[in-house]
Amino acid sequence: MCGIVGVTGGRPAAPLIMEGLKRLEYRGYDSAGLAVVTDGVLDIEKAAGKLAVLEKRVASLNGTGRVGLGHTRWATHGAPTTENAHPHANADATLAVVHNGIIENATSLREWLSERGCEFRSETDTEVLAHLISELYTDSLEEAVIAALRRVEGTYGLGVISSREPETLVAARSGSPLMIALGDGEHFVTSDAAAVVEHTRSVVYLDDGEVAVLTPDAYHIVDLDTTRVHKSVSVVDWDLDTIERGGHPHFMIKEILEQPDAITNTMRGRLLEDEGSARLGGIDMTDDQLLAIERIVLTACGTSWHAALIGEYMLEDLARIPTEVEYASEFRYRTPLVDNRTLVVGISQSGETADTLAALREAKKRGARTLGIVNSVGSTIAREVDSGTYIHAGPEIGVASTKAFTCQVVSLALLTLRLARLRSMSVLQGREVVLALQRLPDQVREVLGRAEQIEKLAETYALAQNALFLGRGYNFPVALEGALKLKEISYIHAEGYPAAEMKHGPIALIDEMMPVIFVAPNDGVYQKIVSNVQEVRARHGKVFAVVTEGDDEITRLADQTVEIPKTIDSLTPVLSVLPLQLLAYYVAVRRGCDVDQPRNLAKSVTVE
Ligand code: AGP
Repeated sequence: MCGIVGVTGGRPAAPLIMEGLKRLEYRGYDSAGLAVVTDGVLDIEKAAGKLAVLEKRVASLNGTGRVGLGHTRWATHGAPTTENAHPHANADATLAVVHNGIIENATSLREWLSERGCEFRSETDTEVLAHLISELYTDSLEEAVIAALRRVEGTYGLGVISSREPETLVAARSGSPLMIALGDGEHFVTSDAAAVVEHTRSVVYLDDGEVAVLTPDAYHIVDLDTTRVHKSVSVVDWDLDTIERGGHPHFMIKEILEQPDAITNTMRGRLLEDEGSARLGGIDMTDDQLLAIERIVLTACGTSWHAALIGEYMLEDLARIPTEVEYASEFRYRTPLVDNRTLVVGISQSGETADTLAALREAKKRGARTLGIVNSVGSTIAREVDSGTYIHAGPEIGVASTKAFTCQVVSLALLTLRLARLRSMSVLQGREVVLALQRLPDQVREVLGRAEQIEKLAETYALAQNALFLGRGYNFPVALEGALKLKEISYIHAEGYPAAEMKHGPIALIDEMMPVIFVAPNDGVYQKIVSNVQEVRARHGKVFAVVTEGDDEITRLADQTVEIPKTIDSLTPVLSVLPLQLLAYYVAVRRGCDVDQPRNLAKSVTVE
């Protein structure tokens, strides 16, 4: 997630901004920059990479300027380069903008500005904002920003400064968190209290559609109709450590609870309602090339491999394309049968997993087209595949992957929709999938609202030595994922199986000491799994089941259940995994485990 820090006051701005940006490093970023107005001149320094690179360049500034803006960028559109780093300036470098969010009508604004002679140096939507505000500037930065924002569609948290008004800082928010902080003879703007809490704990949280105008000794807030808005001052009472996790005790629970927004970002601008299809800009393959695909191989590791399994069901079920899933570590050393009619898809949150990268290189060597489904923009896998799609989950700090998994599944649903509508799926079927996708964020929010119920369950499971996760069809991979979550953060031995496989061996494990977690939504194989639950109950196994709202059959058989809303079969994993993520989290917390940094694990396995 990008970070914003700005200040106008009596002290040199550059050091304050650099300190603030360092407080935001935990959020993940790949480039950074700052702008300061000194003696009526706007200086901008930017750098790809870590803040240490920027720090060297900032040292060359004559750091006396007292109004400035800084930004750490987590690339979403445009690679993580110095040119794309923020702040972005207008043509004569008299105005600078930093921005979090996505300007959805950036292309049309860019065209309008180009017709008026603007030339662009970067690929970003933020630079469009800088030129637009500049184009509309007459004698008030506040008025120019408001006039520009009235033309903007999309989300923003932004800061603007200008050498023409060397004490003024204008900030605005719509859909991306932003606050102002009230210091002694100085005012700050930031996307995260962590950046300023050592200077002041008095903050004013901006709401969507509000514009704040700051000077060293005063501030006011207006809406886009320039009507004054009066807001209360809040006091940040978190310690710095807690702030970085948004008030949550761990990154993992923060990221679990972020999933409604993360999934929304995965789908933003990609659903084609009328056509009942999806638009994936990063897949630069023509319809004919997509139609020429005869087979798909999905390759990944760990949680991403579980997402791949769900993708296999989707692609064969809905797009009718023969699909197989390969552990990347196995694929890379086999003699895989792939050629130019095979699409090999690498799924990776980090985009740096050595086995997945090697598998994709092997596939390319054998003539296959490669595609990446990646979270980290500009990562090695993202740069090496022939084309790809970013899942836009935002930085995932917790080692146990949660929001990346659900965003991967949604991304696979979008890819499936794109391919299926080129083949046998009708527009009506496609619209049904689009509608189900549009409902997902609220349904995810509804399930997460049951966290307390699951936390109570954790008391029982925290004492378990083993656990069995069972599911069928689309929810068999969810059983695997639930087992992985539990084992990797609570160190309880847990296994996932196709529910029907139990009678081929694992049923020998069932007794009153063996918790069995069924992933059993009311989908196409529901009746089959009912009999599996009965088999476990007959052997005194303890059953916790994830069921669809209104379920009665399994609810009657199980010891505990948690309900999820009804959706189409292919999307049930996005909902059925949530109780398992929460169960693993609360069990690990009860067992006093290091939830965000489990023993022996790394967030990205960049070695074999
Ligand atoms: C997930 O909880 C694990 N931390 C791990 O299995 C992870 O999914 C795997 O290492 C793959 O990582 P990637 O998605 O970054 O490639």
